[in-house]
Amino acid sequence: MPTVDISSQPGKDFAGDALVVPVFSGRERHRLPLAISKVARQVMDEEDFKADYLEVVPLHHPNGVKGTRWMVLVGLGDEEKVTLNKIRKAVGTAARVCLKKKWKSIGILSPSTSTLDHDAVQVAVAEGLLLSNYDFVTFKGEKAEPKQFSSVEIFTNGDDTRKSRRKLPMIEAGAAACHRVRDLANTPAGDLYPEVFAEIAVKLAKQHKIHCEVMDVPALEKGGFRSVLAVGQGSTRPPRVLNMEYKPKEKPKKHIILVGKGVCFDSGGLSIKDASNMETMKDDMTGAAIVLATMVACAQLEAPVQVTGLMGLVENMVSGNSYKPGDVIRTRSGKTVEVLNTDAEGRLVLADLLHYATELGADHIVDLATLTGAALVAMGDAVSAVMGTDQKLVDRLLDAGSAAGEHLWQLPLVEEYSELLKSPLADLKNITGSRWGGTITAGLFLREFTGEASWAHLDLSGSWSSKERDYRTHGASGEGPRFLLEWLMD
Ligand code: BES
Ligand code: ZN
Ligand code: ZN
Repeated sequence: MPTVDISSQPGKDFAGDALVVPVFSGRERHRLPLAISKVARQVMDEEDFKADYLEVVPLHHPNGVKGTRWMVLVGLGDEEKVTLNKIRKAVGTAARVCLKKKWKSIGILSPSTSTLDHDAVQVAVAEGLLLSNYDFVTFKGEKAEPKQFSSVEIFTNGDDTRKSRRKLPMIEAGAAACHRVRDLANTPAGDLYPEVFAEIAVKLAKQHKIHCEVMDVPALEKGGFRSVLAVGQGSTRPPRVLNMEYKPKEKPKKHIILVGKGVCFDSGGLSIKDASNMETMKDDMTGAAIVLATMVACAQLEAPVQVTGLMGLVENMVSGNSYKPGDVIRTRSGKTVEVLNTDAEGRLVLADLLHYATELGADHIVDLATLTGAALVAMGDAVSAVMGTDQKLVDRLLDAGSAAGEHLWQLPLVEEYSELLKSPLADLKNITGSRWGGTITAGLFLREFTGEASWAHLDLSGSWSSKERDYRTHGASGEGPRFLLEWLMD
Protein backbone atom coordinates (compact mmCIF):
# COMPACT_ATOMS: atom_id res chain seq x y z
CA MET A 1 0.00 0.00 0.00
CA PRO A 2 1.47 3.42 -0.90
CA THR A 3 1.54 6.25 1.62
CA VAL A 4 -1.62 8.31 1.18
CA ASP A 5 -1.94 11.94 2.13
CA ILE A 6 -4.91 14.27 1.71
CA SER A 7 -3.82 17.88 2.02
CA SER A 8 -5.43 21.27 1.62
CA GLN A 9 -2.58 22.43 -0.64
CA PRO A 10 -3.42 23.51 -4.20
CA GLY A 11 -0.99 20.98 -5.72
CA LYS A 12 0.65 23.33 -8.21
CA ASP A 13 4.04 22.86 -6.54
CA PHE A 14 3.86 19.06 -6.53
CA ALA A 15 7.23 17.62 -7.55
CA GLY A 16 6.59 13.92 -8.10
CA ASP A 17 6.39 11.74 -11.19
CA ALA A 18 2.93 12.76 -12.32
CA LEU A 19 0.15 15.12 -11.32
CA VAL A 20 -3.31 13.91 -12.28
CA VAL A 21 -5.82 16.64 -13.08
CA PRO A 22 -9.49 15.67 -13.41
CA VAL A 23 -11.33 18.14 -15.65
CA PHE A 24 -14.99 18.74 -16.44
CA SER A 25 -16.04 19.38 -20.02
CA GLY A 26 -17.29 22.95 -20.51
CA ARG A 27 -14.29 25.13 -19.87
CA GLU A 28 -15.80 27.96 -17.84
CA ARG A 29 -16.30 25.52 -14.98
CA HIS A 30 -12.62 25.17 -14.13
CA ARG A 31 -11.81 25.84 -10.52
CA LEU A 32 -8.19 24.79 -10.88
CA PRO A 33 -5.02 26.57 -9.75
CA LEU A 34 -4.20 29.16 -12.42
CA ALA A 35 -1.04 27.63 -13.93
CA ILE A 36 -2.74 24.26 -14.23
CA SER A 37 -5.97 25.62 -15.61
CA LYS A 38 -3.97 27.50 -18.28
CA VAL A 39 -2.45 24.26 -19.48
CA ALA A 40 -5.83 22.52 -19.52
CA ARG A 41 -7.40 25.38 -21.44
CA GLN A 42 -4.66 25.37 -24.02
CA VAL A 43 -5.01 21.65 -24.64
CA MET A 44 -8.77 22.06 -24.88
CA ASP A 45 -8.53 25.09 -27.18
CA GLU A 46 -6.37 23.11 -29.53
CA GLU A 47 -9.07 20.42 -29.35
CA ASP A 48 -6.64 17.73 -28.28
CA PHE A 49 -8.79 17.06 -25.23
CA LYS A 50 -12.51 17.54 -24.67
CA ALA A 51 -12.63 16.24 -21.08
CA ASP A 52 -15.12 13.58 -22.10
CA TYR A 53 -15.70 11.05 -19.35
CA LEU A 54 -12.65 8.71 -19.07
CA GLU A 55 -10.63 10.57 -21.74
CA VAL A 56 -6.94 10.68 -20.70
CA VAL A 57 -4.08 12.86 -22.03
CA PRO A 58 -0.58 12.73 -20.52
CA LEU A 59 1.53 15.90 -21.01
CA HIS A 60 5.31 15.98 -20.58
CA HIS A 61 6.70 18.97 -18.61
CA PRO A 62 3.61 21.12 -19.17
CA ASN A 63 4.24 24.81 -19.79
CA GLY A 64 4.30 26.95 -16.69
CA VAL A 65 3.77 24.08 -14.24
CA LYS A 66 7.07 23.47 -12.50
CA GLY A 67 7.89 20.49 -10.36
CA THR A 68 6.01 17.56 -11.80
CA ARG A 69 7.50 15.66 -14.75
CA TRP A 70 4.15 14.71 -16.18
CA MET A 71 0.67 16.08 -15.92
CA VAL A 72 -2.19 13.73 -16.75
CA LEU A 73 -5.50 15.28 -17.74
CA VAL A 74 -8.50 13.04 -17.23
CA GLY A 75 -12.04 13.89 -18.32
CA LEU A 76 -15.00 13.78 -15.96
CA GLY A 77 -17.53 14.76 -18.62
CA ASP A 78 -20.41 17.10 -17.87
CA GLU A 79 -20.29 18.53 -14.35
CA GLU A 80 -24.08 18.29 -13.99
CA LYS A 81 -23.94 14.56 -14.58
CA VAL A 82 -20.97 13.74 -12.37
CA THR A 83 -21.31 11.11 -9.63
CA LEU A 84 -18.90 9.77 -7.02
CA ASN A 85 -18.65 6.57 -8.98
CA LYS A 86 -17.73 8.43 -12.16
CA ILE A 87 -14.98 10.20 -10.21
CA ARG A 88 -13.72 6.89 -8.80
CA LYS A 89 -13.64 5.39 -12.27
CA ALA A 90 -12.09 8.37 -14.05
CA VAL A 91 -9.37 8.58 -11.40
CA GLY A 92 -8.87 4.83 -11.68
CA THR A 93 -8.48 5.11 -15.45
CA ALA A 94 -5.84 7.83 -15.11
CA ALA A 95 -4.09 5.83 -12.39
CA ARG A 96 -3.80 2.83 -14.71
CA VAL A 97 -2.10 5.03 -17.33
CA CYS A 98 0.36 6.19 -14.65
CA LEU A 99 1.05 2.65 -13.49
CA LYS A 100 1.79 1.45 -17.03
CA LYS A 101 4.39 4.24 -17.28
CA LYS A 102 5.88 2.99 -13.99
CA TRP A 103 5.35 6.35 -12.31
CA LYS A 104 5.53 5.90 -8.58
CA SER A 105 4.90 9.21 -6.84
CA ILE A 106 1.52 10.53 -7.83
CA GLY A 107 -0.27 13.73 -7.02
CA ILE A 108 -3.89 14.38 -7.87
CA LEU A 109 -6.21 17.34 -7.64
CA SER A 110 -9.50 16.50 -6.01
CA PRO A 111 -12.14 17.96 -8.35
CA SER A 112 -14.30 20.66 -6.94
CA THR A 113 -17.98 20.34 -7.81
CA SER A 114 -21.07 22.27 -6.81
CA THR A 115 -23.22 19.14 -6.50
CA LEU A 116 -21.20 16.66 -4.44
CA ASP A 117 -19.82 16.82 -0.88
CA HIS A 118 -16.16 17.73 -1.00
CA ASP A 119 -15.12 15.12 1.53
CA ALA A 120 -17.01 12.38 -0.33
CA VAL A 121 -15.21 13.45 -3.52
CA GLN A 122 -11.84 13.25 -1.74
CA VAL A 123 -12.70 9.74 -0.56
CA ALA A 124 -13.74 8.68 -4.07
CA VAL A 125 -10.46 10.02 -5.48
CA ALA A 126 -8.45 8.03 -2.93
CA GLU A 127 -10.50 4.92 -3.68
CA GLY A 128 -10.05 5.24 -7.44
CA LEU A 129 -6.27 5.48 -7.01
CA LEU A 130 -5.94 2.65 -4.51
CA LEU A 131 -8.30 0.23 -6.25
CA SER A 132 -6.34 0.72 -9.50
CA ASN A 133 -3.02 0.19 -7.76
CA TYR A 134 -2.87 -3.54 -8.45
CA ASP A 135 -0.54 -5.67 -10.53
CA PHE A 136 -0.55 -9.46 -10.18
CA VAL A 137 2.92 -10.70 -11.13
CA THR A 138 3.23 -13.85 -9.01
CA PHE A 139 3.11 -15.98 -12.13
CA LYS A 140 5.31 -13.79 -14.33
CA GLY A 141 9.05 -14.37 -14.78
CA GLU A 142 11.37 -14.36 -11.79
CA LYS A 143 12.39 -10.73 -11.98
CA ALA A 144 8.90 -9.34 -12.45
CA GLU A 145 8.21 -6.42 -10.15
CA PRO A 146 4.62 -5.28 -9.64
CA LYS A 147 3.95 -1.81 -11.02
CA GLN A 148 2.75 0.07 -7.96
CA PHE A 149 2.61 3.56 -6.54
CA SER A 150 4.90 4.39 -3.64
CA SER A 151 3.14 7.59 -2.61
CA VAL A 152 -0.14 9.28 -3.35
CA GLU A 153 -0.95 12.90 -2.50
CA ILE A 154 -4.43 14.28 -2.90
CA PHE A 155 -4.67 18.07 -3.15
CA THR A 156 -7.88 19.86 -2.28
CA ASN A 157 -7.02 23.53 -2.82
CA GLY A 158 -8.08 24.81 0.58
CA ASP A 159 -10.89 22.37 1.34
CA ASP A 160 -11.36 20.90 4.78
CA THR A 161 -9.76 17.45 4.73
CA ARG A 162 -10.48 16.27 8.29
CA LYS A 163 -13.50 14.15 7.41
CA SER A 164 -11.93 12.35 4.49
CA ARG A 165 -8.69 11.74 6.40
CA ARG A 166 -10.69 10.05 9.12
CA LYS A 167 -11.99 7.68 6.46
CA LEU A 168 -8.53 6.70 5.25
CA PRO A 169 -8.30 3.48 7.31
CA MET A 170 -11.61 2.32 5.82
CA ILE A 171 -10.47 3.24 2.30
CA GLU A 172 -7.17 1.43 2.75
CA ALA A 173 -8.73 -1.66 4.33
CA GLY A 174 -11.36 -1.78 1.56
CA ALA A 175 -8.72 -1.54 -1.17
CA ALA A 176 -6.53 -4.17 0.52
CA ALA A 177 -9.53 -6.50 0.79
CA CYS A 178 -10.37 -5.92 -2.89
CA HIS A 179 -6.79 -6.78 -3.81
CA ARG A 180 -6.86 -9.86 -1.60
CA VAL A 181 -9.94 -11.14 -3.41
CA ARG A 182 -8.23 -10.46 -6.76
CA ASP A 183 -5.08 -12.33 -5.64
CA LEU A 184 -7.06 -15.35 -4.47
CA ALA A 185 -9.39 -15.54 -7.46
CA ASN A 186 -6.58 -14.94 -9.98
CA THR A 187 -4.40 -17.69 -8.50
CA PRO A 188 -4.60 -20.88 -10.59
CA ALA A 189 -6.45 -23.83 -9.12
CA GLY A 190 -3.27 -25.89 -9.33
CA ASP A 191 -1.82 -23.62 -6.67
CA LEU A 192 -4.94 -22.82 -4.67
CA TYR A 193 -6.96 -25.84 -3.62
CA PRO A 194 -9.02 -26.25 -0.45
CA GLU A 195 -6.10 -27.11 1.84
CA VAL A 196 -4.04 -24.17 0.59
CA PHE A 197 -6.97 -21.78 0.95
CA ALA A 198 -7.45 -23.04 4.50
CA GLU A 199 -3.76 -22.51 5.32
CA ILE A 200 -3.92 -18.95 4.03
CA ALA A 201 -7.02 -18.33 6.13
CA VAL A 202 -5.44 -19.79 9.28
CA LYS A 203 -2.39 -17.59 8.83
CA LEU A 204 -4.46 -14.45 8.31
CA ALA A 205 -6.69 -15.33 11.24
CA LYS A 206 -3.64 -15.59 13.51
CA GLN A 207 -2.25 -12.29 12.27
CA HIS A 208 -5.52 -10.50 12.89
CA LYS A 209 -6.58 -12.37 16.01
CA ILE A 210 -9.69 -13.88 14.50
CA HIS A 211 -10.86 -17.29 15.64
CA CYS A 212 -10.62 -19.85 12.82
CA GLU A 213 -11.79 -23.46 12.81
CA VAL A 214 -10.86 -25.74 9.91
CA MET A 215 -13.09 -28.76 9.36
CA ASP A 216 -11.31 -31.56 7.49
CA VAL A 217 -12.99 -34.65 6.01
CA PRO A 218 -13.49 -36.57 9.29
CA ALA A 219 -14.88 -33.41 10.90
CA LEU A 220 -17.19 -32.86 7.94
CA GLU A 221 -18.40 -36.46 8.16
CA LYS A 222 -19.02 -36.03 11.84
CA GLY A 223 -20.76 -32.71 11.26
CA GLY A 224 -23.07 -34.18 8.62
CA PHE A 225 -21.83 -32.04 5.72
CA ARG A 226 -22.78 -34.78 3.25
CA SER A 227 -23.56 -32.40 0.43
CA VAL A 228 -20.13 -30.73 0.62
CA LEU A 229 -18.49 -34.16 0.75
CA ALA A 230 -20.47 -35.41 -2.26
CA VAL A 231 -19.35 -32.51 -4.43
CA GLY A 232 -15.74 -32.91 -3.29
CA GLN A 233 -15.45 -36.67 -3.53
CA GLY A 234 -14.23 -36.75 -7.15
CA SER A 235 -11.10 -34.76 -6.40
CA THR A 236 -7.74 -35.86 -5.02
CA ARG A 237 -7.80 -32.56 -3.11
CA PRO A 238 -10.09 -33.08 -0.12
CA PRO A 239 -12.68 -30.44 0.88
CA ARG A 240 -12.51 -28.13 3.87
CA VAL A 241 -15.08 -25.98 5.61
CA LEU A 242 -13.84 -22.90 7.46
CA ASN A 243 -15.60 -21.23 10.32
CA MET A 244 -14.08 -17.86 11.20
CA GLU A 245 -15.32 -15.65 13.95
CA TYR A 246 -14.67 -11.97 14.55
CA LYS A 247 -16.00 -10.47 17.76
CA PRO A 248 -15.71 -6.78 18.62
CA LYS A 249 -14.35 -5.76 22.02
CA GLU A 250 -17.57 -4.03 23.00
CA LYS A 251 -20.87 -5.87 23.06
CA PRO A 252 -21.73 -6.43 19.38
CA LYS A 253 -24.69 -4.55 17.94
CA LYS A 254 -25.57 -7.48 15.70
CA HIS A 255 -24.39 -10.88 14.62
CA ILE A 256 -23.97 -11.44 10.90
CA ILE A 257 -23.04 -14.67 9.16
CA LEU A 258 -21.34 -14.49 5.78
CA VAL A 259 -21.32 -17.69 3.74
CA GLY A 260 -19.03 -18.09 0.74
CA LYS A 261 -19.00 -20.58 -2.13
CA GLY A 262 -15.41 -21.79 -2.35
CA VAL A 263 -15.28 -24.12 -5.34
CA CYS A 264 -11.56 -23.89 -6.00
CA PHE A 265 -12.09 -25.40 -9.42
CA ASP A 266 -15.36 -26.17 -11.18
CA SER A 267 -14.84 -28.59 -14.06
CA GLY A 268 -18.58 -29.30 -13.94
CA GLY A 269 -17.86 -32.80 -12.66
CA LEU A 270 -19.33 -35.62 -14.76
CA SER A 271 -21.77 -33.10 -16.29
CA ILE A 272 -18.53 -31.64 -17.58
CA LYS A 273 -18.16 -28.09 -18.92
CA ASP A 274 -16.77 -27.47 -22.39
CA ALA A 275 -13.27 -26.02 -22.71
CA SER A 276 -14.22 -22.37 -23.04
CA ASN A 277 -16.68 -22.43 -20.15
CA MET A 278 -14.05 -24.07 -17.94
CA GLU A 279 -11.34 -21.49 -18.68
CA THR A 280 -12.07 -19.15 -15.79
CA MET A 281 -13.37 -21.70 -13.28
CA LYS A 282 -10.42 -21.18 -10.94
CA ASP A 283 -12.42 -18.14 -9.80
CA ASP A 284 -15.39 -20.20 -8.56
CA MET A 285 -14.13 -19.62 -5.02
CA THR A 286 -14.65 -15.86 -5.20
CA GLY A 287 -17.50 -15.97 -2.67
CA ALA A 288 -15.21 -17.58 -0.09
CA ALA A 289 -12.41 -15.12 -0.95
CA ILE A 290 -14.78 -12.21 -0.32
CA VAL A 291 -15.77 -13.68 3.04
CA LEU A 292 -12.13 -14.13 4.07
CA ALA A 293 -11.04 -10.67 2.92
CA THR A 294 -14.04 -9.05 4.62
CA MET A 295 -13.30 -10.82 7.90
CA VAL A 296 -9.74 -9.50 7.87
CA ALA A 297 -10.94 -5.98 7.10
CA CYS A 298 -13.51 -6.17 9.93
CA ALA A 299 -10.71 -7.03 12.35
CA GLN A 300 -8.51 -4.22 11.01
CA LEU A 301 -11.30 -1.68 11.33
CA GLU A 302 -12.68 -3.05 14.59
CA ALA A 303 -16.17 -3.35 13.14
CA PRO A 304 -18.97 -2.95 15.70
CA VAL A 305 -20.71 -6.20 14.72
CA GLN A 306 -19.95 -9.86 15.34
CA VAL A 307 -19.18 -11.54 12.03
CA THR A 308 -19.02 -15.26 11.39
CA GLY A 309 -17.53 -16.35 8.09
CA LEU A 310 -18.35 -19.79 6.70
CA MET A 311 -16.44 -20.94 3.63
CA GLY A 312 -17.17 -24.16 1.75
CA LEU A 313 -13.99 -25.18 -0.05
CA VAL A 314 -14.12 -28.00 -2.60
CA GLU A 315 -12.97 -28.99 -6.07
CA ASN A 316 -15.64 -30.22 -8.47
CA MET A 317 -13.74 -32.80 -10.50
CA VAL A 318 -14.08 -35.82 -12.75
CA SER A 319 -12.88 -39.22 -11.58
CA GLY A 320 -14.05 -42.74 -10.82
CA ASN A 321 -15.03 -41.44 -7.43
CA SER A 322 -17.09 -38.44 -8.57
CA TYR A 323 -20.68 -38.01 -7.52
CA LYS A 324 -22.99 -38.89 -10.37
CA PRO A 325 -26.08 -37.54 -12.07
CA GLY A 326 -28.94 -39.42 -10.47
CA ASP A 327 -27.28 -39.65 -7.05
CA VAL A 328 -29.43 -38.61 -4.12
CA ILE A 329 -27.73 -36.67 -1.35
CA ARG A 330 -29.14 -36.49 2.14
CA THR A 331 -28.02 -32.93 2.94
CA ARG A 332 -27.09 -31.74 6.40
CA SER A 333 -30.62 -30.41 6.93
CA GLY A 334 -32.09 -33.85 6.25
CA LYS A 335 -33.68 -32.70 2.99
CA THR A 336 -32.76 -35.03 0.14
CA VAL A 337 -31.60 -33.75 -3.24
CA GLU A 338 -31.56 -35.61 -6.51
CA VAL A 339 -28.47 -34.50 -8.41
CA LEU A 340 -29.40 -34.25 -12.06
CA ASN A 341 -26.46 -32.07 -13.03
CA THR A 342 -23.14 -32.22 -11.20
CA ASP A 343 -22.30 -28.75 -12.53
CA ALA A 344 -24.97 -27.22 -10.28
CA GLU A 345 -22.59 -27.93 -7.37
CA GLY A 346 -22.43 -24.52 -5.72
CA ARG A 347 -25.98 -24.75 -4.41
CA LEU A 348 -25.17 -28.16 -2.90
CA VAL A 349 -22.15 -26.80 -1.04
CA LEU A 350 -24.16 -23.82 0.14
CA ALA A 351 -27.12 -25.98 1.20
CA ASP A 352 -25.08 -27.52 4.02
CA LEU A 353 -23.40 -24.27 4.99
CA LEU A 354 -26.65 -22.30 5.07
CA HIS A 355 -28.25 -24.96 7.22
CA TYR A 356 -25.24 -24.87 9.55
CA ALA A 357 -25.59 -21.06 9.67
CA THR A 358 -29.23 -21.31 10.74
CA GLU A 359 -28.10 -23.51 13.66
CA LEU A 360 -25.50 -20.97 14.75
CA GLY A 361 -28.23 -18.36 14.86
CA ALA A 362 -27.64 -14.77 13.77
CA ASP A 363 -29.49 -11.59 12.96
CA HIS A 364 -28.77 -11.95 9.26
CA ILE A 365 -27.25 -14.51 6.90
CA VAL A 366 -25.73 -13.35 3.63
CA ASP A 367 -24.24 -15.77 1.13
CA LEU A 368 -21.96 -14.89 -1.75
CA ALA A 369 -21.48 -17.21 -4.70
CA THR A 370 -20.51 -17.39 -8.36
CA LEU A 371 -23.60 -19.52 -8.65
CA THR A 372 -25.05 -19.27 -12.16
CA GLY A 373 -23.94 -18.42 -15.67
CA ALA A 374 -27.50 -17.13 -16.05
CA ALA A 375 -26.63 -14.16 -13.81
CA LEU A 376 -23.98 -13.15 -16.35
CA VAL A 377 -26.48 -13.55 -19.17
CA ALA A 378 -28.98 -11.35 -17.36
CA MET A 379 -26.67 -8.67 -15.97
CA GLY A 380 -23.33 -8.82 -17.74
CA ASP A 381 -20.09 -8.69 -15.79
CA ALA A 382 -20.59 -5.31 -14.14
CA VAL A 383 -23.61 -6.12 -11.98
CA SER A 384 -24.26 -8.82 -9.37
CA ALA A 385 -27.69 -10.17 -8.52
CA VAL A 386 -29.22 -10.05 -5.06
CA MET A 387 -32.24 -11.94 -3.73
CA GLY A 388 -33.54 -12.62 -0.26
CA THR A 389 -36.26 -13.30 2.24
CA ASP A 390 -35.87 -10.02 4.13
CA GLN A 391 -36.53 -6.97 1.98
CA LYS A 392 -35.01 -4.64 4.59
CA LEU A 393 -31.77 -6.59 4.44
CA VAL A 394 -31.81 -6.61 0.64
CA ASP A 395 -32.42 -2.84 0.62
CA ARG A 396 -29.48 -2.23 2.93
CA LEU A 397 -27.23 -4.29 0.70
CA LEU A 398 -28.46 -2.42 -2.38
CA ASP A 399 -27.72 0.90 -0.64
CA ALA A 400 -24.30 -0.31 0.42
CA GLY A 401 -23.62 -1.31 -3.19
CA SER A 402 -24.55 2.17 -4.43
CA ALA A 403 -22.34 3.79 -1.81
CA ALA A 404 -19.38 1.59 -2.72
CA GLY A 405 -19.95 1.94 -6.46
CA GLU A 406 -20.42 -1.81 -6.83
CA HIS A 407 -23.58 -2.49 -8.81
CA LEU A 408 -26.15 -4.81 -7.31
CA TRP A 409 -29.60 -5.45 -8.71
CA GLN A 410 -32.42 -7.34 -7.07
CA LEU A 411 -34.14 -10.27 -8.71
CA PRO A 412 -37.44 -11.63 -7.37
CA LEU A 413 -37.72 -15.05 -5.73
CA VAL A 414 -40.72 -15.95 -7.88
CA GLU A 415 -42.87 -18.31 -5.82
CA GLU A 416 -44.42 -20.15 -8.74
CA TYR A 417 -41.02 -21.38 -9.97
CA SER A 418 -40.49 -23.35 -6.75
CA GLU A 419 -42.32 -26.36 -8.08
CA LEU A 420 -39.76 -26.67 -10.89
CA LEU A 421 -37.33 -27.91 -8.24
CA LYS A 422 -39.54 -30.78 -7.09
CA SER A 423 -38.21 -34.28 -7.67
CA PRO A 424 -40.29 -37.45 -8.00
CA LEU A 425 -37.55 -39.34 -6.16
CA ALA A 426 -36.27 -36.94 -3.49
CA ASP A 427 -37.39 -33.74 -1.73
CA LEU A 428 -35.68 -31.55 -4.33
CA LYS A 429 -33.65 -31.77 -7.51
CA ASN A 430 -30.65 -29.55 -8.08
CA ILE A 431 -31.73 -28.21 -11.50
CA THR A 432 -35.07 -27.35 -13.06
CA GLY A 433 -34.33 -28.82 -16.47
CA SER A 434 -34.94 -25.47 -18.13
CA ARG A 435 -32.51 -22.60 -18.67
CA TRP A 436 -35.10 -19.91 -18.07
CA GLY A 437 -34.73 -17.91 -14.87
CA GLY A 438 -31.67 -19.91 -13.81
CA THR A 439 -30.47 -17.32 -11.29
CA ILE A 440 -33.85 -17.11 -9.61
CA THR A 441 -34.37 -20.87 -9.42
CA ALA A 442 -30.89 -21.26 -7.91
CA GLY A 443 -31.90 -18.67 -5.31
CA LEU A 444 -35.10 -20.59 -4.61
CA PHE A 445 -33.08 -23.77 -4.14
CA LEU A 446 -30.88 -22.05 -1.52
CA ARG A 447 -33.93 -20.66 0.26
CA GLU A 448 -34.95 -24.22 1.10
CA PHE A 449 -32.03 -24.35 3.53
CA THR A 450 -32.39 -21.00 5.27
CA GLY A 451 -35.30 -21.80 7.60
CA GLU A 452 -36.75 -18.69 9.18
CA ALA A 453 -33.55 -16.66 8.90
CA SER A 454 -33.29 -13.14 7.56
CA TRP A 455 -31.30 -14.13 4.50
CA ALA A 456 -29.90 -12.61 1.33
CA HIS A 457 -28.05 -14.25 -1.53
CA LEU A 458 -25.62 -12.60 -3.93
CA ASP A 459 -24.94 -14.23 -7.29
CA LEU A 460 -21.60 -12.67 -8.19
CA SER A 461 -21.80 -11.96 -11.90
CA GLY A 462 -19.70 -8.84 -11.30
CA SER A 463 -16.75 -10.76 -9.94
CA TRP A 464 -14.78 -11.32 -13.14
CA SER A 465 -13.85 -8.70 -15.69
CA SER A 466 -12.99 -9.92 -19.17
CA LYS A 467 -10.95 -6.77 -19.80
CA GLU A 468 -9.29 -4.00 -17.85
CA ARG A 469 -11.35 -0.87 -17.42
CA ASP A 470 -11.50 2.04 -14.95
CA TYR A 471 -9.99 0.79 -11.67
CA ARG A 472 -10.36 -2.86 -12.59
CA THR A 473 -7.64 -5.03 -14.07
CA HIS A 474 -8.28 -8.03 -16.29
CA GLY A 475 -9.54 -10.98 -14.25
CA ALA A 476 -11.01 -10.93 -10.78
CA SER A 477 -12.71 -7.57 -10.09
CA GLY A 478 -12.31 -7.77 -6.31
CA GLU A 479 -15.84 -6.50 -5.78
CA GLY A 480 -17.60 -7.59 -2.62
CA PRO A 481 -15.70 -6.60 0.51
CA ARG A 482 -16.21 -2.87 -0.04
CA PHE A 483 -19.99 -3.00 -0.18
CA LEU A 484 -20.08 -5.49 2.70
CA LEU A 485 -17.90 -3.14 4.77
CA GLU A 486 -20.21 -0.22 3.95
CA TRP A 487 -23.01 -2.28 5.45
CA LEU A 488 -21.14 -3.86 8.39
CA MET A 489 -19.45 -0.64 9.55
CA ASP A 490 -22.72 1.29 9.47
N1 BES B 1 -19.73 -21.84 -11.31
C1 BES B 1 -20.81 -22.02 -12.20
C2 BES B 1 -21.53 -20.73 -12.53
C3 BES B 1 -20.76 -19.76 -13.38
C4 BES B 1 -20.65 -19.98 -14.74
C5 BES B 1 -20.22 -18.64 -12.83
C6 BES B 1 -19.95 -19.08 -15.52
C7 BES B 1 -19.52 -17.74 -13.60
C8 BES B 1 -19.38 -17.97 -14.96
C9 BES B 1 -21.86 -22.97 -11.58
O1 BES B 1 -21.38 -23.94 -10.74
C10 BES B 1 -22.53 -23.66 -12.73
O2 BES B 1 -21.86 -24.33 -13.43
N2 BES B 1 -23.83 -23.43 -12.86
C11 BES B 1 -24.57 -24.00 -13.91
C12 BES B 1 -25.93 -24.36 -13.35
C13 BES B 1 -26.77 -25.17 -14.29
C14 BES B 1 -26.17 -26.54 -14.49
C15 BES B 1 -28.16 -25.26 -13.73
C16 BES B 1 -24.72 -22.95 -15.02
O3 BES B 1 -24.86 -21.78 -14.71
O4 BES B 1 -24.64 -23.33 -16.18
ZN1 ZN C 1 -20.78 -25.72 -11.76
ZN1 ZN D 1 -19.56 -23.49 -9.76
